Amino acid sequence: MKKSSIIIDRHFIVGQTDKRIYGSFLEQLGRAVYEGIYQPGNVHADERGFRKDTAALVEELHVPIVRYPGGNFVSGFRWEDSIGPVSKRPARVEEAWEVIETNEFGLNEFMDWCNISATAPMMAVNLGTRGIEAARNILEYCNFKGGTYWSDLRKEHGYQDPHNIKVWCLGNEMDGSWQIGSKTATEYGRLANETAKAMKIMDPSIELVACGSSGMQMPTFGSWEMEVLDQCYDNIDYLSLHTYYGNAENDTKNYLAKTMEMDNFIQSVVAICDAVKAKKRSKKQIHLSFDEWNVWYHSLESDKKLEKWTKAPHQLEDVYNFEDALVVGSMLITLLKHCDRVKIACLAQLVNVIAPIMTSDTGAWRQTIFYPFMHASNYANGTVLNTVVKGPKYDSKDFCDVPYLDTVVIENQESEELILLAVNRDLEEDMEVTCRISQFEGYERAEHLVMTHEDMKAENTEAEPYNVIPAQCSYTKIENGIMTSLIKKHSWNLIRIMK
Ligand code: AHR
Repeated sequence: MKKSSIIIDRHFIVGQTDKRIYGSFLEQLGRAVYEGIYQPGNVHADERGFRKDTAALVEELHVPIVRYPGGNFVSGFRWEDSIGPVSKRPARVEEAWEVIETNEFGLNEFMDWCNISATAPMMAVNLGTRGIEAARNILEYCNFKGGTYWSDLRKEHGYQDPHNIKVWCLGNEMDGSWQIGSKTATEYGRLANETAKAMKIMDPSIELVACGSSGMQMPTFGSWEMEVLDQCYDNIDYLSLHTYYGNAENDTKNYLAKTMEMDNFIQSVVAICDAVKAKKRSKKQIHLSFDEWNVWYHSLESDKKLEKWTKAPHQLEDVYNFEDALVVGSMLITLLKHCDRVKIACLAQLVNVIAPIMTSDTGAWRQTIFYPFMHASNYANGTVLNTVVKGPKYDSKDFCDVPYLDTVVIENQESEELILLAVNRDLEEDMEVTCRISQFEGYERAEHLVMTHEDMKAENTEAEPYNVIPAQCSYTKIENGIMTSLIKKHSWNLIRIMK
């Protein structure tokens, strides 16, 4: 059996987690909204049409913030189409995803849904086909108390109190050739800055996210970030990062190592932010909003065959398997290891569209990736400790020196708990893991949840919703200040040590 040791010191910390690191994303796309969270007349819907079965699963995930309405969708969106009496809202050609958008569900419905789902909105404005004017109008509609055209219209629509939306995204993936109204870094940087200025004059309490590159593989990655930050550093608060992984080559060893790239991506963007800070001799620090991350590849081929210009088609409906859950677990670990700079992150997405939750007309169920996210968001809150691992490593097709054990330790002072999240990337052997915890006097009771499966491609479906699920195990012991755990080969683990 391989062995690793984890070295922690409660005084050597990375930082405090921001709850919003467990955000998610709901795009006006496919069946995310329609049939996902909203389906009037469905047996599971409430009197307003919100799916109660979906809401119950969202609640289990403890998602503190949800990005909306896109994504690529937002770059062609006229937000005014989505407010007021539903019967008067226009149906539109939605070019980002080549569908028909009815606008039956819109801004205020989303705010209602946030309220019942105990989550906060993260609203994106259209900087593709639109700009400053539309951005300040939607802000006035949402956040201004009253006595002006847009704020009074909100009241007329039944919302006396402002929505007070705190976090706003300045467009989406504006460097991508697929984006409607894509821009050069110079064009976007200037527009983002002027939009940010206008929005903050109206509501100085808001926080703004500027678009970083839509991926590290973009040819302009790096220079885009530099240029955009150079232009809007003083008026924005976060820079965005997006990443999706897949295993199209069916090389699981390499697939499980892909978070090495995510780690490098974060470190690179932090370095760029700080280089611009130094150049500007600024005291202000830009934080990161990793507002799209997940596995996305299963549905890419079948989506090409979908009929165009239909309403709410089955788009981006990846059915996740067990190995995808391990990658999602590793992605969470990576985000947590950078919690000093990553303050917001959004699992893309939440329901039906590359999502942990799936629905049909008859019910809702949890995909494999639901579990690592739920474990982290429910328990991994507090102080992330500098987690040093001494143990064996491997090389894969694209990566060298990949630790078999991917792990992070969090101390929750409030609940007096030590939380360890771990993925064993080893496909052949279990691992013995030790960690000296003598600084945590009196911490004894352990809970160890493990998720593993003999079949790396095993899935949860409506017919078999509990095929891949976590189980309690007794693989963790504490003796003489040393915690020893057995970490099964190819497994996801949540270990909690309590007083
Ligand atoms: O999440 C799906 C899509 O991925 C989003 O609309 C877009 O921003 C990204 O390319």
